[in-house]
Amino acid sequence: MRRPLVAGNWKMNGLRASINALMDGVITGSSGLGSTDIAVCPPFVYLAQVHSQLATSQVALGAQNVSHESPGAFTGEISADMLKDQGCAYVVVGHSERRSLYGESDDLVARKYAVVQKAGMIPILCVGELLEERESNQTEAVVARQLDAVVNMCGIASFAHAVIAYEPVWAIGTGRTATPQQAQDVHAFIRTRLRDLDAKIADGVRILYGGSVKASNAAEIFAKPDVDGGLIGGASLKAEEFLAICKAAAA
Ligand code: PGA
Repeated sequence: MRRPLVAGNWKMNGLRASINALMDGVITGSSGLGSTDIAVCPPFVYLAQVHSQLATSQVALGAQNVSHESPGAFTGEISADMLKDQGCAYVVVGHSERRSLYGESDDLVARKYAVVQKAGMIPILCVGELLEERESNQTEAVVARQLDAVVNMCGIASFAHAVIAYEPVWAIGTGRTATPQQAQDVHAFIRTRLRDLDAKIADGVRILYGGSVKASNAAEIFAKPDVDGGLIGGASLKAEEFLAICKAAAA
């Protein structure tokens, strides 16, 4: 039985005061949600603030990105060890905004995944197809390519310490959610591909869905057998909405 995980990806949103208020709400409301793992991924500069607010709460801390390099002369970059040092348990790698807006290749994403694990954290590996790729029937080929880049570099065993997030790019921030069945189909495809390499690892790995998840549609998506929670963007910026999604995963 896989334990659900709901992770909030705040992207480049929030300032000290609004983050303080958001975290107050999340921490208070999450206390009765023991059967779901919950994480929040603030912008880098607020990791320390959020970490100190989390204190003894069950909510885990995650980062949205990381450098693939070891510490050194890389102006403006943040290393995996620094994130670990700030209390991060998770790091999102390969989000579609990083792939498309910042040119991150499959190879670079795999290197980031590797450094996150090496530092003792769990990568949340995002995969997903563009609208034109779905419309030209390439969804499985694209997801397989993104997944294989990591399998080939880090090995199937690495997925014992990783989370996968399937995020169809056309559903991110658009209000257009994949249907529960569309999500299930790709999640099952991912799990089957991993199962061909190691059934135990494939059955244990959590595969989150992301893309316009809201309180109103979370339950039906999370009810699908291969959907193990969600990576939540816009809806994670409101405590009540985010907590309702966490509750839907616990049900
Ligand atoms: P969204 O973003 O929930 O705002 O669609 C999801 C994500 O990008 O992780």
